[in-house]
Amino acid sequence: MDFEQLKQQKTEEINAFLKEFLPEESGKEKVLCEAMNYSVEVGGKRLRPMILLEAYKMFGGKDSAAQPFAAALEMIHTYSLVHDDLPAMDNDMYRRGQLTTHAKYGEAMGVLAGDGLLNYAFEVMSDAVCEQGANAAKAMQIIAKKAGVRGMIAGQTVDLEWTGKPQNKELLDYINERKTAALLCAALMAGAALAGADEGELTLLETVGVYVGLAFQIKDDILDVIGDESKLGKPLHSDEKNEKSTYVTLVGIEEAERLVKEYSKRAVEVFELCLHENPFLKELLLSLVTREY
Ligand code: IPE
Ligand code: IPE
Ligand code: MG
Ligand code: MG
Ligand code: MG
Repeated sequence: MDFEQLKQQKTEEINAFLKEFLPEESGKEKVLCEAMNYSVEVGGKRLRPMILLEAYKMFGGKDSAAQPFAAALEMIHTYSLVHDDLPAMDNDMYRRGQLTTHAKYGEAMGVLAGDGLLNYAFEVMSDAVCEQGANAAKAMQIIAKKAGVRGMIAGQTVDLEWTGKPQNKELLDYINERKTAALLCAALMAGAALAGADEGELTLLETVGVYVGLAFQIKDDILDVIGDESKLGKPLHSDEKNEKSTYVTLVGIEEAERLVKEYSKRAVEVFELCLHENPFLKELLLSLVTREY
């Protein structure tokens, strides 16, 4: 099986177990659960759960213990997108090839579905921690911090605060390291922690995650300008509409493309310092440079 086929197969496996962790659509709050499940099941590359599971395997994990954490991380990522698309933030109507959650269910339900996904992620992870013990607790701690007030939410905050104002590279890196790289760090680190990786190994993976995240967000900003909407599944020119400074506005497409390659190369160089190997994960990280969606 080649890389693309393997990735497709792994995506299908993730979609299958992810479904099992989502809430049943029942009770008087049925519409909340429907909106949550819609947001997750409508699509998405499943990059973060895939990285988490591959990091778990890389450090010797063999069973299904990482699945609840992979599912929870995708729920957190999805909530961040649901809220990012709200009228109060980027005000976008399409995501993953379909209407955004607020466009389909109304703004209030968009807020609540995001809240629901974030909380449900912690319901799922805390159940797993009670069953699995110390490594699982460490994984939940990593995910909580990377998604949190000094992590993804900080990045979204500074991104919004600086909307419409001129930015420099230092500020953009501050934003991108948090709003995007933090959850990629969480994927690598939580997967490894579940398999018992030590602090030194986690720090190495954190550096990998930062470089991957910087490359990933710059690529996202490039695709926002020159991508193919039908492949991307979200509208082009969202950044221009919102007067966002990005690497594209700061240094131009060509230099931005060079930086994506540069950061991705650095990510893999650090990744190769790990004493463990995972050729699929290495190729997955490298493939983000040439992605079209
Ligand atoms: C989009 O993430 C938001 C960013 C961090 C740039 P993805 O490009 O991974 O979105 P999905 O999960 O595939 O929809
Ligand atoms: C947001 O970045 C990343 C999140 C943490 C949600 P963008 O606003 O550029 O993400 P897209 O382009 O809407 O997916
Ligand atoms: Mg945004
Ligand atoms: Mg956005
Ligand atoms: Mg974007």
